[in-house]
Amino acid sequence: MVAHRRWLVTGGLGFIGSAFVRLVLRERADVAVTVLDSMTYAGNPANVAEVAHDHRYSFVRGDIADAARVDAAIGEGVDAIVNFAAETHVDRSILEPEAFIRTDVLGTHVLLEAVRRHKISRYLQVSTDEVYGDVEHGASRETDPIRPRSPYAASKAGGDLQVLAYHTTFETPVLITRGSNTYGPYQYPEKLIPLFITNLVEGERVPVYGDGLQVRDWLHVDDHARGIAHVLEQGTPGEVYNLAGGNSRTNLEITKELIRLAGRSYDDSVRHVTDRPGHDRRYALDAAKAHALGWSPSVGFATGLAETVAWYHQREDWWRPIKSGDFREYYRRQYALR
Ligand code: TYD
Repeated sequence: MVAHRRWLVTGGLGFIGSAFVRLVLRERADVAVTVLDSMTYAGNPANVAEVAHDHRYSFVRGDIADAARVDAAIGEGVDAIVNFAAETHVDRSILEPEAFIRTDVLGTHVLLEAVRRHKISRYLQVSTDEVYGDVEHGASRETDPIRPRSPYAASKAGGDLQVLAYHTTFETPVLITRGSNTYGPYQYPEKLIPLFITNLVEGERVPVYGDGLQVRDWLHVDDHARGIAHVLEQGTPGEVYNLAGGNSRTNLEITKELIRLAGRSYDDSVRHVTDRPGHDRRYALDAAKAHALGWSPSVGFATGLAETVAWYHQREDWWRPIKSGDFREYYRRQYALR
């Protein structure tokens, strides 16, 4: 019998969390994974269906802001907690910020307390480039001040600040990764890439905010998951690591490529809509520190994007039920008046 390390993966039914769970069970024979997930709208058991039968996989339903559920998931102890659980969509944070404070701020606090109480030897906080705010020139380094500008980014920044303060005050063995915009299979279709791919399949127009010249740097979800596992195992406690895709594109460039891959024309496919309030023009990360630690992304953007489009074409069984449920009401609220 192999003695397993056990990792608690919070938010493991979400987009990046489930990619991490699939990767770890595939590539780390000595790791067992417990997922703690509250199964709010974006947490979907189908995201881990391919590994759920593995004897090293277990699941606990619960909210990270609920200390009793966190204790139940930790059970007799875990070697590490990797926190993917978060409210993540900027547009939703503009409509309803409160859930972001509860999960991203209070939930992080509850997990940090659990790490102290159970003397867990590693805690990794999955964060975002958005905490640095709008970056007009150059690229954000880990030592740069954080200047979050949306309720979402502010809630993630609140989480990050607690994590670092616990390291300073209690020597809690923490790590933070800040990833750039992530894309790939199993991404909930509220985000730019899966929303646009699926709208195009449905023959709907794609809503481009403002002039579409905002810049994001795109990271494939498998590279992101690999980076998080690498930092968890190789990183220095107390440190932050940026994980960048190295694929900076304007939203219009992405839009045009998705329209081309769908075999549609620009004029028949795009709807220019009112810009997002406080919309950050550009994010850019300097990932030299993660590169020095031995991680770099390996999925080329053209290939990754084409494979992602192909995945959504093959997996209508995955996204059609999502788009026909509560999502319709969200879409109406978000886009009808723009
Ligand atoms: P999004 O996927 O929401 O990620 P984030 O805001 O966290 O970067 O959006 C990516 C970019 O695409 C962002 O500049 C906003 C823009 N966008 C649109 O133009 N239309 C849309 O319908 C969505 C969802 C996003």
